[in-house]
Amino acid sequence: MSMNSNEVRCLIAGGAGCLGTNLARRLLDQGAHVDVVDNLSTGRQANVDRLSRHPNFDFIKMDVADPAICRRLQRRRYSHVYNLACPTGVPNIKRLGEQMLMASSAGTLNLLKIARRCKAKYLFASTAEAYGDPDVFPQPETYVGRVDPVGPRSPYEEGKRFGEALTRFWGGKYGLEVRIVRIFNTYGPAMSPRDQRVIPQMLTRLIAGQPVPIYGDGTQTRSFLHVDDLVNGLLTVIEKGDSGEVYNVGGDQQITVRDLFTTVKKATGLAGEAVFRDHFIEDHRGRWPDTTKLRALGWRPSISLEAGIRESYQDLLRSLGVKPACPAFLAHGKTDRAPVQGDAPQLA
Ligand SMILES: NC(=O)c1ccc[n+]([C@@H]2O[C@H](COP(=O)([O-])OP(=O)(O)OC[C@H]3O[C@@H](n4cnc5c(N)ncnc54)[C@H](O)[C@@H]3O)[C@@H](O)[C@H]2O)c1
Repeated sequence: MSMNSNEVRCLIAGGAGCLGTNLARRLLDQGAHVDVVDNLSTGRQANVDRLSRHPNFDFIKMDVADPAICRRLQRRRYSHVYNLACPTGVPNIKRLGEQMLMASSAGTLNLLKIARRCKAKYLFASTAEAYGDPDVFPQPETYVGRVDPVGPRSPYEEGKRFGEALTRFWGGKYGLEVRIVRIFNTYGPAMSPRDQRVIPQMLTRLIAGQPVPIYGDGTQTRSFLHVDDLVNGLLTVIEKGDSGEVYNVGGDQQITVRDLFTTVKKATGLAGEAVFRDHFIEDHRGRWPDTTKLRALGWRPSISLEAGIRESYQDLLRSLGVKPACPAFLAHGKTDRAPVQGDAPQLA
């Protein structure tokens, strides 16, 4: 952080989620004050409880789409506003689609108003899904994407695209310092055992001794970034990036979902089978960020996929209250715990 650290007062919307919690912890460790606002729709109270031990931390349970948030926070002064608030998970689109749209539209507007009042730097967490089902590989920030505005994934994708447009527009109109990050698949400690994204789902299924569903033939590709590298990316963008600009943040090694499954088993020592199923929703064939723009600011990822998966596995075991694995458990991938989730479709 370039400012004196006790002048750094951050608002993290969505800070009870995986990425927000890790960002909050990093900022607190650096001496900043952090307020988290979150409605806990896909976030976890356990993440908040851990952060609450810190004297510079405060939690406000609220929906960012509620205009009352501007009044509720009107006495607080922030130097930085991070907007990470949005329900996540492709299987959640049916259930939480409207909330996704509202968080990224009304929520973004409310948070921009707070940033404007405080003259704070503002960062909007967009997504690789802003590119839709891409036909350009890797995807540079200049690629405008291939998104169906009324397709089944549109509440998430179009919500984020709207949030980007509003962020850019407000930045220009009111002279706000804004940045947009398009985040590619990120994983790591503080993921919820109920998270249906591909890495936590593979891990929780293997821990529970259940088969792991893979949708389609598993040849669709993704790239994965450890959350510590993601946090470095966000801090790099907010401190060194240009106002109004968009930056991809993601791992730039492509891997198929099928190979990911093998990597998860190898990294953890867990055994288990995959079951191949039809897609439950239109899938994207691939996602691969061009990170040239972020690398030009000095950012480099440093955590290997295998090491990151091992750490995530240990963290999930702790969250589930499962004792550290004994060799037999590792060999058979079995635990006496009840299954942690239903037959929920995974997403990547
Ligand atoms: N992790 C990834 O791979 C990834 C990839 C692309 C984009 N992103 C974006 O990064 C952000 C953080 O993602 P994450 O992985 O930590 O997901 P997450 O689901 O763990 O965190 C999102 C947080 O936002 C909160 N939230 C949702 N709607 C809200 C609302 N209306 N008001 C207040 N809080 C609300 C949730 O309760 C949750 O704590 C999200 O905006 C997500 O779209 C994440």
